[in-house]
Amino acid sequence: MWLNRDVISILDFNKEELLDLFSKAKLIESLKENNLKNLKGKILTTAFFEPSTRTRLSFQAAMLKLGGSTLDLGEPSISSLAKGENISDTIRMLDYYSDIIVIRHKLEGVSRYAAEICEHPVINAGEGTKEHPTQTMIDLYEVWKTFKSLENLTYAIIGDIKHARTISSLILSFSIFKPRKVYLVSPLELRAKEKIRSFMEFNGILYEELTTFSEVLEEADVFYVTRIQKERFSDPYEYEKVKGSYIITLEHIKRMKEGAIILHPLPRVDELSPKVDSSKNAAYFSQARGGLYLRMALLRAILTGE
Ligand code: NCD
Repeated sequence: MWLNRDVISILDFNKEELLDLFSKAKLIESLKENNLKNLKGKILTTAFFEPSTRTRLSFQAAMLKLGGSTLDLGEPSISSLAKGENISDTIRMLDYYSDIIVIRHKLEGVSRYAAEICEHPVINAGEGTKEHPTQTMIDLYEVWKTFKSLENLTYAIIGDIKHARTISSLILSFSIFKPRKVYLVSPLELRAKEKIRSFMEFNGILYEELTTFSEVLEEADVFYVTRIQKERFSDPYEYEKVKGSYIITLEHIKRMKEGAIILHPLPRVDELSPKVDSSKNAAYFSQARGGLYLRMALLRAILTGE
């Protein structure tokens, strides 16, 4: 089911495969001192052409915990890309040195292209503004652990709906696990792109676009909060107009349903007040921690089939 698979889009996987992955991750998470060192001798390479903390380091940590080793391409300025080497030659080299390659790039299609030219599996670690399949797996894993199901939940997705690839990737997954309803909360300038809206309509996903979240505080099961993605604005003035649009505080939490959870792919800027961190609804650190186990399960499944 998993052996040698590339991970390019969440849509490459079906319900059964994803639930199988979540069970594997939960098992790994439940083992206190894990003895899953069966990736000894295998090499994972991270090649990130955009900034990252959690995704790059949690893939590396996952590989090391499984007994494998890691390489990192480093900043483009220290690799031969700085000498004018094209990315396709660079990727070919990584394929010779590695057993699995994890790529992040600002252009859509780079990881699919890499998967075509590489003999070894390729994982998309975030691409452009559309795909971030392993983050979506982590998001769904946290929701699955909390609600014991992924169907029929109400989501309030808040922030930069237009640019956050974690959001569009999560929306793609709603064609696999059907929610009851999705509220998309953003400033008018940052509403979902036409492609994403037609995707939801085509797949019968019930959604509503809002500019404030106050009216859904009592209704949503999952609040998925994201930062406004400053680096994706071509005009800094446009960013200034929308920055700080949404800030979740303890006052909002008081109105949420018992058991509702707040997720955030992180990094956060100002959209979640640190005072919220200790509330029982705050699930974003648990989500980030779970990401390590999810990525361990994923690497193990792809490299050993187990
Ligand atoms: C996100 C990303 O890179 O898309 N980070 C992550 O992988 N957790 C979110 C972001 O940058 O806002």
